[in-house]
Amino acid sequence: MSKVVVFNHPLIQHKLSIMRDKNTGVKEFRELLEEISTLMVFEVTRDLELEDVEVETPICTCTCKKLAGRKLAIVPILRAGLGMVDGVLNIIPAAKVGHIGLYRDPQTLEPVEYYCKLPADSNERDILVVDPMLATGGSASAAITFIKQRGCSHIRLLNLIAAPEGIKRIQEDHPDVDIFVAGLDEKLNEHGYIVPGLGDAGDRLFGTK
Ligand code: PRP
Ligand code: URA
Repeated sequence: MSKVVVFNHPLIQHKLSIMRDKNTGVKEFRELLEEISTLMVFEVTRDLELEDVEVETPICTCTCKKLAGRKLAIVPILRAGLGMVDGVLNIIPAAKVGHIGLYRDPQTLEPVEYYCKLPADSNERDILVVDPMLATGGSASAAITFIKQRGCSHIRLLNLIAAPEGIKRIQEDHPDVDIFVAGLDEKLNEHGYIVPGLGDAGDRLFGTK
């Protein structure tokens, strides 16, 4: 069963509350999503492997640590996932970025794929799938399936807000994928929106409504 990490850090909770406010405008919403994404990366990457390295400081030579092992790729689910990419790149600037285009059919709530471009060596990388909203979980589950079909096996999912329904769906479909969320909300409404949530993340990020 995959692990679910809910961030209770005061800075993240404070920023998330501002994002939820319907009066928060596009500019602030975008900046906060980037900031929270950066803060989340610390926990998401906690178990990255390290190796010893000799460093000569101005005082002496010492044994220090540097990252070892597999490199990372970030895969945003378009559109709203784009808002989390720069936040991750702020502290993992060498990560490669793939894109998966999915939108949720408003009637069926089923994900429809319209784009997929991943780094050629993505099967050798740890993959961070990013999308602000995990509602029914259909979009994230489909994205993870596409990524697995391309040979990737080390996948983590980062969401700003999740509904219990989405968590359950990912745990059933992809029990190997750990889930990191800034907020775990109460439920979905009859239109598949997260309650209390923050509304339509893509529209709030790009100002399309
Ligand atoms: C939103 C969100 C997720 C999806 C979540 O995208 O960014 O991708 O809905 O819903 P689900 O868990 O029920 O699949 P949307 O389909 O609105 O597309 P957009 O990012 O282009 O606005
Ligand atoms: N997509 C969103 O953008 N918001 C929700 O609450 C659910 C799906």
